[in-house]
Amino acid sequence: METMKAVRIHRYGGPEVLVYEDAPRPKPSRGEVLIRVHAAGVNPVDWKTREGYLRQGHPSLPLIPGRDVSGVVENAGPRVASIKRGDEVYSLADFSRDGAYAKYIVVGESEVALKPKSIDHIHAAAIPLAALTAWQSLFDAAQLRSGQSVLIHGAAGGVGSFAVQLAKWRKAHVIGTASGRNQQFMRELGADETVDYQTTRFENAVHDVNVVFDTIGGDTQKRSWKVLKKSGILVSIVAPPSAEEAAAHGVRQAYVFVQPNVAQLAELAKLADAWKLTPVVEAVLTLSEARRAHELSQTGHTRGKIVLRVV
Ligand SMILES: NC(=O)c1ccc[n+]([C@@H]2O[C@H](COP(=O)([O-])OP(=O)(O)OC[C@H]3O[C@@H](n4cnc5c(N)ncnc54)[C@H](OP(=O)(O)O)[C@@H]3O)[C@@H](O)[C@H]2O)c1
Repeated sequence: METMKAVRIHRYGGPEVLVYEDAPRPKPSRGEVLIRVHAAGVNPVDWKTREGYLRQGHPSLPLIPGRDVSGVVENAGPRVASIKRGDEVYSLADFSRDGAYAKYIVVGESEVALKPKSIDHIHAAAIPLAALTAWQSLFDAAQLRSGQSVLIHGAAGGVGSFAVQLAKWRKAHVIGTASGRNQQFMRELGADETVDYQTTRFENAVHDVNVVFDTIGGDTQKRSWKVLKKSGILVSIVAPPSAEEAAAHGVRQAYVFVQPNVAQLAELAKLADAWKLTPVVEAVLTLSEARRAHELSQTGHTRGKIVLRVV
């Protein structure tokens, strides 16, 4: 059996359950490709998986976390037509698979797109899960249009930093929330207005928006109803908003759970190559430093993304 270095969990728990070790090297079956991982993006779902919150639909233990990958195709299984050995690709790997905290990962052909040419693997690996989430929330669920206004909670984070840029690309008016240290950062991303949630209650500063994009949940979500225009929409990626509250406020609501989407990944690559979308990477760590990466992610105060360098 061929082996590879990987980070695995053998039981659910804190960052200490992440073990850097030898694991079986996966083989691509029909319709699958084997990718030599160059970089693996880190997302909160990785530590939520590690803690055992999301067991349904995930591989059994021991499992390799990590949904985001950028790398080079090593080998393709039978019936793979669109991707060949040597292609530089990136992917949001389906949640049922072993992940990207490893030297190699197998993904389905329908999950892989050519990576943006103008950025390196580290920055490409920052894109898939967070940017697809922002795309599917703003464009598929909220149908955000040019000239509309959107309040983005958590605008300095992994998803929020892409959401601000995508909403601006769509020519929306963007209001972002973050702490004081990120006010200038949100402006640099393109936000037209910013709110420091530590000094200002956003509902006192923001009124009549078409869309609220909630990446925070809890009290932030509950206080968001009153800033929406009639028939506006609250889209959350953290917890399903109340249908009763939506009806009482005369607005709509949606919960989005990100799905792999190769056509949207290809669109995101085009935007990155046109310098209309820039992944912001706050920290780059090695594969063997995955514990530290999870500790950082769990602070809930990442600016942009954390990425593991594998090659
Ligand atoms: N449903 C889905 O498909 C899906 C997909 C992706 C993510 N998610 C979930 O969405 C959430 C966000 O993901 P992420 O990757 O963006 O996380 P992240 O990168 O860890 O988000 C960190 C950001 O949140 C900001 N923040 C913290 N408290 C805030 C508050 N009260 N108001 C405004 N901003 C605040 C921080 O800004 P400051 O440092 O300035 O406070 C920081 O920039 C996570 O819970 C994740 O699991 C769900």
